[in-house]
Amino acid sequence: MSGPVVEFKAATKRFGATVAVDTATLDIRSGEVLAVLGENGAGKSTLMKMLYGIHPPSEGHILIDGKPSAVQGPADAMRNGIGMVFQHFSQFPALSVRDNLLLAWPKTPFWTGRRNAGIAPALATLAELAPHIDPDVRVADLSVGEQQLVELSKVLNISARIVIFDEPTSVLTPAEAHNLHGFIRRLADDGMAVILITHKLADVTACADRIAVMRRGAIVDVSASGEKPISSIVSLMMGKEIKRTLTAPKPIKQRVEQLFLNNVCAKAPGMELRNISLRIAKGEVLGIAGVAGNGQSLLADVIAGLHPITSGDVVLEGQSIARRDVRQTLATPLGYIPEQPRENAVVEDMTLLRNLNLRALAAGSRVDDEALDLLSRFNVNPPEPGRLAGSLSGGNLQKLVSARELGTPRSGVLACYPTMGLDLAAIEMVYQELFAQAEAGAAVIWISEDLDDLMLAAHRIAILREGEVVAVKDNDGTLSRDEIGALMTGLRIDEVAA
Ligand SMILES: Nc1ncnc2c1ncn2[C@@H]1O[C@H](COP(=O)(O)OP(=O)(O)OP(=O)(O)O)[C@@H](O)[C@H]1O
Ligand SMILES: [Mg+2]
Repeated sequence: MSGPVVEFKAATKRFGATVAVDTATLDIRSGEVLAVLGENGAGKSTLMKMLYGIHPPSEGHILIDGKPSAVQGPADAMRNGIGMVFQHFSQFPALSVRDNLLLAWPKTPFWTGRRNAGIAPALATLAELAPHIDPDVRVADLSVGEQQLVELSKVLNISARIVIFDEPTSVLTPAEAHNLHGFIRRLADDGMAVILITHKLADVTACADRIAVMRRGAIVDVSASGEKPISSIVSLMMGKEIKRTLTAPKPIKQRVEQLFLNNVCAKAPGMELRNISLRIAKGEVLGIAGVAGNGQSLLADVIAGLHPITSGDVVLEGQSIARRDVRQTLATPLGYIPEQPRENAVVEDMTLLRNLNLRALAAGSRVDDEALDLLSRFNVNPPEPGRLAGSLSGGNLQKLVSARELGTPRSGVLACYPTMGLDLAAIEMVYQELFAQAEAGAAVIWISEDLDDLMLAAHRIAILREGEVVAVKDNDGTLSRDEIGALMTGLRIDEVAA
């Protein structure tokens, strides 16, 4: 047995007064998958950014192959065989998948690389993880999960021997995640050291060899996978026991329709919405289920007023909200939690307070006096209104967006995957706030990948397939997963169950 390939020795990272990583000591070995768990803001991304050379440790050090690491930055890291797939990845949306892979290939100038074999391994990886992606399609036209898989293929193309995945499965469908688990396992079996940062316990059980738990910057536990029950891993993460408290919103006594989609049609490259009609009542939570890539993003953009509709209308409280300018759209009393909030819903160079005010200002008000309350109610950590949004951890940034969109009463709410990337306590909090909006009279549309959660809490579930609503079902306790699965895929129930 050779020694560990990476050793953190009492590594600490401070940002001003914040101790993001606190005297962390940890070994990473070749041939293993090490899962890193911890609540939002625990220091997981920062720990690995130290290894990747983005943030040099403030104290302590990092050894690679037993020698002090000389990695000065990402380019250096790649030369040293270290790859990192980020929580928030960077691609050129207007370019094709192929060109994105070429631009990332460090050894050949991209203009001579067009027929170069350099990206052949990346294309092969992509073909394995997502055989349906055509390399010549624009990145902008892929689902977020597909973009993640392109990013992954890009990073693996640098002949890495240490690979860091920062929450790779939070944007993947269950099927994509399942594929990725097998792939990660094989990387380790081929001798790579794989670090898997995740909030999903399913990732851990599927492919981790060891589990490191972080809390408030410190490594609080390292154990072999299976050595401890998952419940004690969760308590270590949160410092307390977390119970699922998800309770369905109250049934609706009398329907007062509040949000209408009337025969909505819209077009985007590779996707067309056809005649979508939905009615959501005051106090109602309508879940939207579907396999990712069946029109969810376009539907959300259309309801939020970010994408033009070709015919039909979206009506909130009797007013059409489909053809409004930006200012009107911001002032519309529709709370909107979009996909990828870092890209779509915050300005990283602005303070938390300014971000909280973005919507209110358009409606001619401000939330200055409530800001502190909002930040603490939505558990945004650290709750400092004057801090820059870009310095928040991924999950805390997501909570900031929820605070702005769900923190004040709305007539309608559109929540797209609102719990993506959140830790267990934050998931419960966001669901509570979402359902509280309904109970206070909002009409809520909730797009989710998680059929179990939808079946626990939505009043009705609409199924989206290939740009059409193929069914709307009452969630009256008689619905079965297989039935919804069949509608989602277009298969027969016996084929789904098999
Ligand atoms: N560039 C930065 N400037 C200031 N503070 C930062 C910066 N990056 C991270 N932090 C702080 O360091 C702490 C740890 O953040 P980190 O991103 O490592 O958390 P995480 O465990 O990855 O959380 P999540 O699950 O939400 O992604 C947080 O309090 C965060 O606000
Ligand atoms: Mg993170």
